[in-house]
Amino acid sequence: MTCEQKLVMAQFLDTAEASLKGGYGFYNRHYDFKDDEAIIPPVPPPAAAPTQAADNTALAAVPTPAFAPSQAAAPSQAADNTAPAKFDTIDEVAAEARACSNCALCKTRKQVVPGEGVPNPLVLVVGEAPGADEDSSGRPFVGKAGQLLDKMLSSIALSREKNCFIANIVKCRPPQNRDPLPGEVDACIHFLHKQISLLKPLVILSAGRVSTANLTGSNDGITRLRGIWKNYRNIPLLPTFHPSYLLRDETQKAFAWEDMKSLCRKLAELDKNYEAMSAKLRFERKI
Ligand code: URA
Repeated sequence: MTCEQKLVMAQFLDTAEASLKGGYGFYNRHYDFKDDEAIIPPVPPPAAAPTQAADNTALAAVPTPAFAPSQAAAPSQAADNTAPAKFDTIDEVAAEARACSNCALCKTRKQVVPGEGVPNPLVLVVGEAPGADEDSSGRPFVGKAGQLLDKMLSSIALSREKNCFIANIVKCRPPQNRDPLPGEVDACIHFLHKQISLLKPLVILSAGRVSTANLTGSNDGITRLRGIWKNYRNIPLLPTFHPSYLLRDETQKAFAWEDMKSLCRKLAELDKNYEAMSAKLRFERKI
């Protein structure tokens, strides 16, 4: 049997177990199946990471917070797959991801979407997986949800060009935009772990349930988790709604706006330059 066939069987059994227990569960179990014939070769040990230096020059580009609502309105860190660290730079992680064929998504993807942004960002945004637009372009969050994400970030003086990095739990598009399967997360999450250790973001913004479950280990719903600060390996992590969800239910934007303000306060605590920028935003009554 191939590892994919074994994985499908295991996930079928997980689903059956969830069903027998009376509900639809989100499983984050880790399997390490191997093809009966082809064994995946071992990988070398990890390398060290660079330092923090925030580029906080975004304020000039901050538009009116168009995103802000109108007045009306287990973890994969458990199975820490940081092992395949053949790379010392973000570009090397990206190159490795582009060459990856560790799960079945490599057969259906058009392009791998490793992530993009600045080194040593103030914020690392982690989404779930690429969608159709991202699959076509090779860039994260460039579709409608991505445009909303950019607005959310710019409302508090953040952007992928100046002071953020944007990545996903899984680097290839799952067919029909379904949730990534646990085995796909297992095969891929070491890229994100390595990105985090190289990027050393000041803060992580976790967009949606899938990202939050995989980074915090909590399988609670995102409605319960959003807005409550957690930690990922000593990095403050804020769960928030996924922008795709906000596009489907605009009434939730008010909560997401609260999260953006909380993120802004946290960054102001942690970074002097950002503190000055956010003070200016407050003075201009943009936040
Ligand atoms: N949704 C995500 O979670 N990530 C993307 O890159 C695009 C849409």
